[in-house]
Amino acid sequence: MEPTELIWMDGTLVPWDEANVHVLSHGLHYGTGAFEGIRAYETERGGAIFRLTDHMRRLVRSCKALGIPLEWSVDDLVKAGKEILAVNRLTSGYIRPIVFYGTGSMGLNPAGANIHTIIASWEWGAYLGEEGLRDGIRIATSSWRRIDAGSMMPNAKGTGAYVNSVMAKQEALRGGYDEALMLNSQGFIAEGSGENLFLIRDGVVSTPPITAGVLDGITRSSVMTLLREDGFDVREHALARTDIYYADEAFFTGTAAEVTPIREVDDRPVGEGKPGPVTRRAQELFMGTATGRLDSHPEWLEYV
Ligand SMILES: Cc1ncc(COP(=O)(O)O)c(C=O)c1O
Repeated sequence: MEPTELIWMDGTLVPWDEANVHVLSHGLHYGTGAFEGIRAYETERGGAIFRLTDHMRRLVRSCKALGIPLEWSVDDLVKAGKEILAVNRLTSGYIRPIVFYGTGSMGLNPAGANIHTIIASWEWGAYLGEEGLRDGIRIATSSWRRIDAGSMMPNAKGTGAYVNSVMAKQEALRGGYDEALMLNSQGFIAEGSGENLFLIRDGVVSTPPITAGVLDGITRSSVMTLLREDGFDVREHALARTDIYYADEAFFTGTAAEVTPIREVDDRPVGEGKPGPVTRRAQELFMGTATGRLDSHPEWLEYV
């Protein structure tokens, strides 16, 4: 990661190297925080942040779910998100907001600790590699189950909960795969370590519902809308492990992963073992919309 010049920290712009926190921050010890991941794309009209307001709304929702009293409104955060891209002179790249408890409490109860909000931005290429976007990736079912709704909140981007994803990602990479497929505690398919999953079989596009224990992904909802508008039958329902083995096509969606084809799962080829036509169409629709080449949802592009 190439450092940029400035980081927005609690309302002021701080040089990258000086945006530090205390080692006794509550969020560092107990994972008490919430975060977002947002991308901006270069368009003919300049840099546009994809669904920035929706991402900041989700950050506010995650804080609410986690009981973190956030002092900034969605509008404040949207303004700061645009500002951090502009001051770093980026027209495309990644934006990382995070809200977390700082110092003031070392007990589990964070009351009394101050709360920090930071927004950073930097240039970022394809998360699962250019080759992955082109040819598809190889994934493996993780030995780690996705966090369960009975003890955590899969549909909130809480920082501490991501240890679950980190374990799955590391295991997949150590096994020689590109990404993990996580099942939920009932054994149904949930999602990747940081991506939502879609399968295509006999022309029907399927994705697990939020109640399967997945994040309500903004790329997921964008792709569902775009494919439906393009005439596809898109359904949300429980998916068994065999559903991905029997699928004609599979792909992951995410801000970082965009639309990444999956060519192999658990050492079995998905369909013909290469990206299929529906996956290609989803990539085209999503990237076309995000970069403004397609005018399908101009309201999703928030110009810097
Ligand atoms: C666990 C998990 N699932 C899915 C996603 C994809 O969500 P989005 O498309 O909003 O980036 C992410 C990324 O934020 C994630 O962390």
